[in-house]
Amino acid sequence: MVETIIMRVDPLSPDIDAIKLAASIVKRGGIVAFPTETVYGLGCDAFNSDAARRVFEAKMRPPDNPLIVHISSIEQLDIVARRVPEDAYKLARRFWPGPLTIVLEKNPRVPSIVTGGLDTVAVRMPAHPVALKLIEYSETPIAAPSANLSGRPSPTRGEHVIRDMAGRADVIIDSGETLYGVESTIVDILSEPPRILRLGAYPVEEIERELGRRIVIPDFARGLREAEVALSPGMKYRHYAPQTPLLLVEAESYENLGVYAERVLELATRLAGEGRRVAIVSSRETSRLYAERGFTTLELGSRRNPYELAKNLYHVLRQVDELGVDLAIAEGFEERGLGLTVMSRLRKASTQRISVNL
Ligand code: TXA
Ligand code: MG
Repeated sequence: MVETIIMRVDPLSPDIDAIKLAASIVKRGGIVAFPTETVYGLGCDAFNSDAARRVFEAKMRPPDNPLIVHISSIEQLDIVARRVPEDAYKLARRFWPGPLTIVLEKNPRVPSIVTGGLDTVAVRMPAHPVALKLIEYSETPIAAPSANLSGRPSPTRGEHVIRDMAGRADVIIDSGETLYGVESTIVDILSEPPRILRLGAYPVEEIERELGRRIVIPDFARGLREAEVALSPGMKYRHYAPQTPLLLVEAESYENLGVYAERVLELATRLAGEGRRVAIVSSRETSRLYAERGFTTLELGSRRNPYELAKNLYHVLRQVDELGVDLAIAEGFEERGLGLTVMSRLRKASTQRISVNL
């Protein structure tokens, strides 16, 4: 256990003294939980292997799951990566600061513990004033995974970080709720054609448009099967998961929403009939139907607004465990734009998936 300094910092006009204090702790090899526009990160000096080891320990993260290196200017790319291809600069200029992580050839200066022994490094420039200032004042790139205990849903609110990291991080900067609520999109542009290693807050369609070429979305990124070790080690673990068993009900399409919801309701009713306490993770359009039949519902948001679904996703997955139910059923969502990201997370979080034909 360490003593954790918890600081409330306004996300829009951050208190510089607070950030300087956190930065001084990064410089001394400490670990600092900080907000980004996606989820909170658990950061350390990216060039300090002892500090990185502490990050792995604090999260209880398997050592073969590499960290993302966060920079605050494009100029810093060269100190963490090398032989950066023109396409990477193109993406960086268009999408940074923002929720896009680019996998590049690693600069030998980056310790191998940070990259989980890979010869590539994942880099991004976050679009959050607190994160950018923290990197600047730390005068070093910051290696940071999400600030949750390994396997748990990523933290999207200060209270999530405090729950997972109090007594583990040296500092927690609490800046309230994050903007996107899901992690950055990770693109591997070293492979031909480029491919998505993790769906995230930037829709793939936008990245394709900028590159002017197609990007492959492998099945594992959609949550359909496990990644081979060499591809993206982190992908092989169950992720984002509540402790409560989660059953995801998928359909080819959700156009016939009334019919779909009836099928979900049938399933919930059957399980409840077997004596199990069941909650339903639902959408604004359907939650009343379930609630009227006596089920506890957790609402993700409207099906018409995938940003809202993404933003609430991890908070709702954490809430599932607080209900004390035996099982949660999650609705599926249209796999377009951020809906694709939401579905990838729900698949990885689920213990079982069911497909219904409507
Ligand atoms: O939005 C985000 O990306 C957040 C915030 C804090 O920036 N960070 C985040 O980090 O989600 P983490 O550690 O939870 O997820 C990093 C992912 C892991 O799945 C890991 O496998 C992948 O990035 N990754 C890191 N380095 C890689 C590399 N060299 N090659 C392939 N995948 C890599
Ligand atoms: Mg994570």
